[in-house]
Amino acid sequence: MKAKESLWSWKAPVPASLAALEAYSAGEERAGRRLHANEMPWGEPWNRYPDPVPDALRQALAERAGVTADSVFTGNGSDEIIDLLQRAFAEPGQDAVMVCSPSFSMYAHAALLNRLPVVTVPLRPDFSFDAQAALDPDLAPTPIAFLCDPNNPTGNRLGDAELYRFLLRYPGLVVIDEAYGEFAGADHRSWMQEFPNLILLRTLSKAWGLAGLRVGYALAHPAVVQTLDRVRMPYSLAGPVRQLALRALANADLMRTRVQRVVVSRDRLVRQLESCPVVEQVYPSDANFLLLRCHPPGDTAALLERAATQAGLRIRRFGQEGPLANCLRISVGTASDNARLVAVVKNFLA
Ligand SMILES: Cc1ncc(COP(=O)(O)O)c(C=O)c1O
Repeated sequence: MKAKESLWSWKAPVPASLAALEAYSAGEERAGRRLHANEMPWGEPWNRYPDPVPDALRQALAERAGVTADSVFTGNGSDEIIDLLQRAFAEPGQDAVMVCSPSFSMYAHAALLNRLPVVTVPLRPDFSFDAQAALDPDLAPTPIAFLCDPNNPTGNRLGDAELYRFLLRYPGLVVIDEAYGEFAGADHRSWMQEFPNLILLRTLSKAWGLAGLRVGYALAHPAVVQTLDRVRMPYSLAGPVRQLALRALANADLMRTRVQRVVVSRDRLVRQLESCPVVEQVYPSDANFLLLRCHPPGDTAALLERAATQAGLRIRRFGQEGPLANCLRISVGTASDNARLVAVVKNFLA
């Protein structure tokens, strides 16, 4: 493959062991009374399997994104798509996957499940992406790289100039996970024409406020979408989930208003937390959460986490080793959640 090839002649790099795999078919393409699927004849509409491909939802997502529907893949959360991408495009016993560190732990978790080793590229101390480090010829070759922009759990943008440099030279598939993109205006769609190997991963779980529905999607070259469709389970995305997702997508104004509210609350929270003695640093965030490092080093974050738990607040700690030592990740909550959180941090005596 190479990014410079014609967009249309580009082929997704499927391992040989999957070359013969066809999408599962239960004969859904034929018309007529449904006596082929061992369903019950009563109880419309949920007695019936949904369409094998959630076409209406993909169409709606495509319209929003300004792409054609054959460039949209949908999954049971973007978590499922991370797993499917690895299953489709990396060969156990032969390939590895590239991930940054620190970043979203699901990339490495899925790699373990898929029996794939991980090639880890450290982010810089300010958590920005270092394209040169990721392109180091001494690294084991990987068919797929996972980059998260804005990055979870650090909250920052990786840096578009570095991402672009990486895309120019990396020969495999590049996944840019834009799960928090709406909070940052992070959107790499304009690169898709230039790089057929670019996959943008998105979700309705964050800005759209629908984590309970489990809907994620990828914007990708149709060849990638076709491959993922061959690998996924049939009928994925339940009928009611498709309907609820479609209903939510019709109200993008609500999503934008809520994102704006979260951004305003987040920035206020940063100012409030920065003035607390136990906080060494609040990292700049482009997402709906904050990463903060506690002071003094040692077990302060663990103690602060315990104080938060006692106050009825769940926050996330990352242990005492590595680049996230003594750090906590806090999601922006309601005004009352945020006020309670600030009170705990302010009153905490290290
Ligand atoms: C960066 C990132 N990608 C993907 C996901 C998973 O999203 P979904 O709910 O769509 O599976 C998360 C969830 O926290 C995330 O932080």
